[in-house]
Amino acid sequence: MQRPIEIAPSILPADFSRLGQECVDLENAGVDRIHWDVMDGVFVPNITMGPDIVGSLRSHLSIPFEAHLMVVNADEFAPLFIEAGCSTVMVHVEACTHLHRSLNNIRKQGARAGVVLNPHTPASTIAHVLEQTDHILVMTVNPGYGGQTYIPLLDKISEIKEMVDSSGCEIDIEVDGGINADNIGECAAAGANVFVSGSALFKYADRAAGTAELRSLAEAARN
Ligand code: DX5
Ligand code: ZN
Repeated sequence: MQRPIEIAPSILPADFSRLGQECVDLENAGVDRIHWDVMDGVFVPNITMGPDIVGSLRSHLSIPFEAHLMVVNADEFAPLFIEAGCSTVMVHVEACTHLHRSLNNIRKQGARAGVVLNPHTPASTIAHVLEQTDHILVMTVNPGYGGQTYIPLLDKISEIKEMVDSSGCEIDIEVDGGINADNIGECAAAGANVFVSGSALFKYADRAAGTAELRSLAEAARN
């Protein structure tokens, strides 16, 4: 059974002087969830937002929040973002010494457990945690900044899709980084069903039309 196509804008390109309105506009444009790119300046060479900022937006929107934790202390920060209202919290394979435990802890706190792989990280690194995973995020850029050039990793996405299908687990497969109208179709055909789009979506003058276009391109590529 195919999992629904979802569009999850990264909030990085937003005008942070109007963050609340930007998020409300995205919800009104029909996006499915907000993708919060959390960076600590250590795991990645950039610093973004903490749980207080994410939490301040929670009551203004009804769509789910997902936290992409690009932080070295993933276990320490995961609970804070769950408390802030993120229903999915994603930790990097590369940041977790005890990934099986980290994912279980996220679930124990009532959130969906997500695992993130950098472009160089093999799919095999998550082979033994599929039972503990609700969401897999495949990076198609090296994390740290929005607006980077997409790195095609279609074989990796397909490999992960096959792993998930043969596991019988219900897991969303998301791609993140440089996703736009030119490449969303190939990622969907390879097996992704959730798509982070930051700079590409924010470039559309009409974000509702942009969201609809990205969604229809992904849906068309799967059928
Ligand atoms: C990069 C972030 C991505 C990125 C997406 O570290 O995880 O979510 O901001 O933005 P675009 O779509 O502009 O690559
Ligand atoms: Zn991200």
